Amino acid sequence: MRFETKRFIREKLEEIRKQVGDSGALVATSGGVDSMTCALLAHKALGEKAIILFIDDGLMRDSDKKRVVDLLAPFGINVKVLNAKKFFFKALKGKDDPEVKRKAFRQVFYKTLGKVVKQNKVESLIQGTIAADIIETKGKIKTQHNILKQIGIDPKKRFGFRVVEPLREIFKPQVREVAKELGLSSRVYQQMPFPGPGLATRAVGEVTPQRVKILRRATEIVEEEIKELKPFQAFAVLLNDKATGIRKGKRSFGNIIVIRSVESKDAMTASVTRVPWRILERIRDRVIDEIPRVVKVLFDITPKPPSTIEYI
Ligand code: XMP
Repeated sequence: MRFETKRFIREKLEEIRKQVGDSGALVATSGGVDSMTCALLAHKALGEKAIILFIDDGLMRDSDKKRVVDLLAPFGINVKVLNAKKFFFKALKGKDDPEVKRKAFRQVFYKTLGKVVKQNKVESLIQGTIAADIIETKGKIKTQHNILKQIGIDPKKRFGFRVVEPLREIFKPQVREVAKELGLSSRVYQQMPFPGPGLATRAVGEVTPQRVKILRRATEIVEEEIKELKPFQAFAVLLNDKATGIRKGKRSFGNIIVIRSVESKDAMTASVTRVPWRILERIRDRVIDEIPRVVKVLFDITPKPPSTIEYI
C-alpha cells in the first residue's frame, strides 16, 4: 500500500493534540531525522506548548548542537540546550558490557528528561521511536535507547511523564518522506542515521571523555571522506583492543579504528558499501596523521546479519 504522507501528517497532528492536551510536551532532538521530524510535528501541533531540547551529553559529533539550533530556527523554534555531559560520563564510567552500557544510557537519558519535564511543568514526552527500534528491542537483538512501554517499563511511574510516539508504525524511508513534506532541509531528510546514544554505540568498551575524543575525530574524517558515495550509514568505531605500532621510530601500543559503511533501506538488513580503495587510503592517512594515539585502521566487510550495523 502507498504511504500517504500528507494524510499521515494530518492524523499525527491530531493524535498529538489529543494525547498531549493542554499540558504541553517535551521533545528531545539529537539532530537525527526521526527526532527532528518529531520536533517539527510537535511544534506544528502544539506551538509554544512544545519544548524542543538538545541534550549535550558529550556523545554527539562536534557540529550537532549548532546544526539542530540552526536547522530549526527558520520554523520559529527556539531550541533549548542542556549541558548534561558530566551525568552521562558518570553513568557510563567503568561499564564495558554493551547491554549494560545501553541500559545505563537509557536510565540517565530519561532521568535527565524527567527533570526537564518537571521544571517546565509539562506532562508528556514526544519521541521519535520508529518501527525498526521496536522490532529489534522486542526481538532482544539490542536495547534501543528509546524503547520503554513496549518492554513493560511504565514511563509515568519510573520517570514522571507520558510517552507519545507519532512515528512508531513507520520505517526510515517513510520518516524521510514526512520530514521532506514538513519542509525540513534535505540536510535532515537525506542524512545518515545517527543513533540516540551517539558515539557510545561506536566505542567498544568503556566510554570515557578521552576515548570519545579519539572516536569523534575519526568519525568526522570518515564522514567527510566518504560523503561523495552517499552511503546509507558510514562511521568510525573505536575498538577495545590495542595493537603494536611505530610512532616517530618508537614502539607504540595504540588504538584501533574501524571504518564501517553500509547500504540499507530500513536498517533491518544491510550490505557493505564497495568503498573505492582511494577513499579508504585517504581515510587511513588522515586518521593516522590527525590522531596520534591510533596505530591501526581496519575496514569492516560484514553485512547485517550476521553483524549489526553499530558495534554494541
Ligand atoms: P543496528 O546496530 O541494530 O542498528 O543494526 C540499526 C539502526 O538503528 C540505529 N541504532 C539506534 N538508534 N537508538 C537509536 O536511536 C539506539 O539505541 C540505536 N541503536 C542502533 C543504528 O544507527 C542503525 O541505523
